[in-house]
Amino acid sequence: MTKEQLMQRIEQLKQEKRAVILAHYYTLPEVQAVADYLGDSLALSVKARDIEAPIILFAGVNFMAETAKVLSPDKKVLIPVPEAGCSLAESCEAAALKALKEQYPGHKVVSYVNTSVQVKALTDVCCTSTNALQVVESIPREQPIIFAPDRNLGSYIQKLTGRDNMVIWDGACTVHEEFSLEKILSLKREHPQAKVVAHPECKAYILEVADYVGSTAGILNFCGEDSAAEYIVVTEAGILAEMRKRYPEKTFIPAPPEDSTCACNECRYMKMVTLENILSCLEAESPEVLLNEDVRVAAERSIQNMVAIK
Ligand code: 13P
Ligand code: SF4
Repeated sequence: MTKEQLMQRIEQLKQEKRAVILAHYYTLPEVQAVADYLGDSLALSVKARDIEAPIILFAGVNFMAETAKVLSPDKKVLIPVPEAGCSLAESCEAAALKALKEQYPGHKVVSYVNTSVQVKALTDVCCTSTNALQVVESIPREQPIIFAPDRNLGSYIQKLTGRDNMVIWDGACTVHEEFSLEKILSLKREHPQAKVVAHPECKAYILEVADYVGSTAGILNFCGEDSAAEYIVVTEAGILAEMRKRYPEKTFIPAPPEDSTCACNECRYMKMVTLENILSCLEAESPEVLLNEDVRVAAERSIQNMVAIK
C-alpha cells in the first residue's frame, strides 16, 4: 500500500471503530498526520484522561500508552509497538526505587512521567518537563524530595529552586544527552542571530548556552512568541515538523549529536511507530495495554496529583 492508501485505511478504521489516535511530536511526520491529537507528554496525559472514544491508539512509546490506560481504565488502549521503550524509564526499576525510598525515609517522591506504571505506583506526584518546576514548588521547601529518573531535569530544577534537599536519580535520556556543545557553538557562529532553544533533558553545559530552556510545548510556544527569525533546536528532531507547520516564515536548524555525521538527533523508540503498524494494530485491536488493577490505582493517584497542580 502507498502512504496515502495506508492513511486512508487508518482514517476509515478510526471512524468505524470510533478510535482516537494520540501521538507525541517526536513520532514520524506521517504518523503525526493521522493523529487526532498531537501533543507533548503533559498535554497527551490530560487528553487521555478526558477522551470519550472507546478506543485510544497511542502512537508513542510504552510509558505513554500505559499512562493513558491508567487514566482511562474502561477504554481499550492500543499500542502499535509495545517494545518501544525509553532509556529514562528503563534506567529506573521499581525495586531499585523502593530500595532508595527505604534509604531516604520521609522523602516525597517526584517522578517524571517517563517511568513504568510500577514506578508511578511508588511515586507521590508525577511531573513532566512542562510542569516539573510547579510540581517541585508545590511541595513545602523543608520537605525533602527524591526526584527520578532524569538527572538533567532534576539538576535543572534544583538550580532553579535552589533546593538542596533533593536526591536525584542517575538516569538520562540517551537522545537529549547526546547533543554536541562544540557543534552547537559552531552553528551559532554560522548563524549569529539564531536563538538556541533546548529541552531540560539535555546536559547542564548545553542548557547554559541556551536562550530558552523548556519542554516540547514550551519550545513550540516560545518560538511563536519570540521575535527571532532563526532557531537552533536542541531537542528531538520530530518537533521540527510542527515548528515548520506553525511558523513557516521562521528557520529551524536542528542541533547535531556528538558521535555522528547526522544533522539531527532522533529517538529510535519513537520512530518505531509507523503507518503500517498503526494499521495492523487498529485492524486487530491488539496489542492492547493491560495493567494490574492495584498497580494502576496507585499509579493513577500520582498522575492525578500532578494534573491537580495548576
Ligand atoms: P515532553 O513531551 O514533556 O517535552 O518530554 C519529552 C520527551 O522526551 C518525551 O519522551
Ligand atoms: Fe525516552 Fe528520550 Fe526517547 Fe523521550 S526522547 S522517549 S525520554 S529516550
